[in-house]
Amino acid sequence: MIVGHFPESRLRRLRRTKFARDLVQETALSVKDLIYPVFVLEGKNISAPVASMPGIFRGSSDKLLHTCEELVALGIPAIALFPVISDEKKGLYAHEAYNPDGLIPRVVSELKNRFPDLGVITDVALDPYTSHGQDGIVDENGYILNDETTEILKKQALCHAEAGADIVAPSDMMDGRIGAIREILDKHSHHLVLILSYAAKYASHFYGPFRDAVGSAKSLGKGGKETYQMDPANVAEALREVAMDIEEGADIVMVKPGIFYADILSRVKQQFSLPTFAYQVSGEYAMLKSAFKAGFLSEDACILESLLCLKRAGANAILTYFAMDAARLLNQKK
Ligand code: PBG
Repeated sequence: MIVGHFPESRLRRLRRTKFARDLVQETALSVKDLIYPVFVLEGKNISAPVASMPGIFRGSSDKLLHTCEELVALGIPAIALFPVISDEKKGLYAHEAYNPDGLIPRVVSELKNRFPDLGVITDVALDPYTSHGQDGIVDENGYILNDETTEILKKQALCHAEAGADIVAPSDMMDGRIGAIREILDKHSHHLVLILSYAAKYASHFYGPFRDAVGSAKSLGKGGKETYQMDPANVAEALREVAMDIEEGADIVMVKPGIFYADILSRVKQQFSLPTFAYQVSGEYAMLKSAFKAGFLSEDACILESLLCLKRAGANAILTYFAMDAARLLNQKK
């Protein structure tokens, strides 16, 4: 690398004027990079706030249609759907997860009818549907059974694809599920449905507010997910997870959580150069929101900076609860 020497080289020359700063800028954040995660529940005219995520609501599908009108107007390309399932529909075997008349398939087809160009991403995972809040079927010792869980994930992914989902996104971390899902989708002529794999998903404590939102926190109790989600200490293992998911047919891979795992994101992007998404998770949102509320950080600037940093680290797109705020800010800037 040629670095130059002071005083011939003065790096501040490039920073003096706005136009020069704009010209040499290496990364840009755009509305087209944003994906809005939404929590949907049964019923009509319901909009229930999530206490640990100020500004975020669990809404019935009529409310969601409203939100989608706004998303489309703002230019946000896609949403990610997460269901809130009532306790009586939860069970040990997560039957509701692949009910073709269930909440998610109904919402997906409604959305695709009304907003054909808005990308719809569905979460393929069992935790909203299990009585114990784990992402899989448990044996008598509480261990999450891999292959038995994958069988159900296949049915769930197929059910979402049949309803019209554009992207199915397995977020469970079972081994081999990407290949299994690709195979069943292809067998049923859904070879154009994309798979976004939560390839390197860590057993993070920053998911707490999300678990409150979908109501899996109370089912989960003190149970952790470290027998399937990754140890926050590991890097090489993340690269292996990603490599295997690519071999199994993932179209897009994701690293989750976001900013604390930006090193992983960067490594994945550099090593594999395939579309890579980041998830700025509920705990990151809650942290920032609390600081904004206390007046400790300036809201607009910090929202955009937090997302730009994920782009710089290698994200092609970002799932973020700030998607609407960020889009408004970016649109104003134009
Ligand atoms: C579960 C799932 C989780 C999130 C997305 N899908 C939580 C978990 O693994 O316990 C977290 C998202 C967030 O914190 O914003 N399959």
